[in-house]
Amino acid sequence: DGDARVQGIFDAIRVVPDFPKPGIMFQDITTLLLDHKAFRDCIDIFVERYKDKNISVVAGIEARGFIFGPPIALAIGAKFVPIRKPKKLPGEVISEEYALEYGTDRIEMHVGAVQPGDRTLVVDDLIATGGTLSAAMRLLERVGAEVVECACVIELPELKGRERLGGKPLFILVESA
Ligand code: PRP
Repeated sequence: DGDARVQGIFDAIRVVPDFPKPGIMFQDITTLLLDHKAFRDCIDIFVERYKDKNISVVAGIEARGFIFGPPIALAIGAKFVPIRKPKKLPGEVISEEYALEYGTDRIEMHVGAVQPGDRTLVVDDLIATGGTLSAAMRLLERVGAEVVECACVIELPELKGRERLGGKPLFILVESA
């Protein structure tokens, strides 16, 4: 990408082998949050990209999309809408299921939080299989919003999650194995 800040962001992410189970190389962004410059650079790069794109809503996915989404939303003058795990939101919700390795999971969003025509950016820390992001996009499109782009800090390209996004653009800062 040529952005010198990206190397610092990559270096600040701790990779923990065999967490939470054998064979998984866990991408731990808590160390990025401890590195003031790397965290700041990360938010700045997203803000530079989205500030003039008329984004009205930043939708963040639980849990780590709640860390990166709000500072972007505040800086670009957009609303922040949380997309949550089941049974966390108190109001009326719509929900979407997505496949896990074994079984399914579900994410939910408040009805009325996003309006038809809202130009939304979907934010999470990481894309693996792409199941979570594609379910989030379905939620937003069901209420008539336009998904402008998805943005993640980390992509695991081997899992080809990008291919599950139906051609929607995905912007990432770093790739990992
Ligand atoms: C992780 C990650 C993404 C999702 C990506 O969340 O933060 O939200 O998995 O995986 P996918 O592309 O295969 O769908 P996790 O399920 O660990 O939930 P948490 O953030 O609440 O811990």
